[in-house]
Amino acid sequence: MDEKKKVMLSGIKPSGDLTLGSYLGAIKNWAERAEQFDCYYFMADLHALTTRQNPADLRRRTLEQLAQYVACGLDPEKNTLFIQSHVPAHAELGWVLNCYTMFGELSRMTQFKDKSKKNADNINGGLFTYPALMAADILLYQPDYVPVGDDQKQHVELTRDVAQRFNNLYSETFKIPEPYIPKVGARVMDLLDPASKMSKSDDIGNGRVCLMDRPEDIARKFKRAVTDSDTDEHCVRYDPERKPGVANLMQIYASCTGKSFEDIETEFTGQGYGAFKTAVGDSVIEMLRPIREEAQRLMKDKSYLEALCKSGADKASYIANKTLRKVYKKVGLVPRT
Ligand code: TRP
Repeated sequence: MDEKKKVMLSGIKPSGDLTLGSYLGAIKNWAERAEQFDCYYFMADLHALTTRQNPADLRRRTLEQLAQYVACGLDPEKNTLFIQSHVPAHAELGWVLNCYTMFGELSRMTQFKDKSKKNADNINGGLFTYPALMAADILLYQPDYVPVGDDQKQHVELTRDVAQRFNNLYSETFKIPEPYIPKVGARVMDLLDPASKMSKSDDIGNGRVCLMDRPEDIARKFKRAVTDSDTDEHCVRYDPERKPGVANLMQIYASCTGKSFEDIETEFTGQGYGAFKTAVGDSVIEMLRPIREEAQRLMKDKSYLEALCKSGADKASYIANKTLRKVYKKVGLVPRT
């Protein structure tokens, strides 16, 4: 490992299937990141437990996500890929940091407020203390950068505050990480509701294309995609204000084919939306086909997946335990011999 590389870490909650939005917006750009950064990616299965999960689905999704990352080009030799619950230091440091995170701070988290509204019948302690576990996830690896979406920025800010508080009390222990908002990456919107982001979620949505969707389902979803709400000008033109649906499809098509918006406008001059939507659907099908096939192949190869999980967890544990031991010592726990 190159000691001079900056460290980057991100977690993904396996509570929904990965989508075209996850791929074009993020994962697609991760493969080459490994040249520049020492990267850790983990499946945040402990975080998924804060909302009710079907156990069989959670297990499948966690492994499937791992397989999909590899299929998307993340090289497990160059990146550290692991399952959160396989590295006990997360839960252990999570507990300690719970004791350094204030009730008032946790109460201000907008994600907690949103999720409490959505899960009114299950506002559990874990949902509330989620950010302390997330702080542990991050601080264990002393990363320089944490790539996150807008919705997670507040949690990274809290992580910085907790780390600072701990360092002030016990001397320098944690590196203070920066949130990292990647410059590249398309923002893919829902095909039926172009005002909202295409996000991973449990329910089947016709506006959302998943990496594991069958080609015929992808084709159908693109055929039904909304184009214009005003119907006066039926042409393929990039105008995100007036034609957000068309702009989203153009963005997707551009990302899949490498064509510019002007090229796309020219290509579909004089043609209706039908031909355009079919072309976008086909380009997505072809882009996702090798990923889906490779992920399916890996999912069948249980011994490969097990070995992958084990080597990832071993690499991660080595780093995580170093930080955990320091923390236990500083707060006054008796060292285990
Ligand atoms: N909270 C993140 C999400 O819901 C997932 C996550 C858990 C995470 N631990 C993390 C992201 C640590 C970055 C770093 O998407």
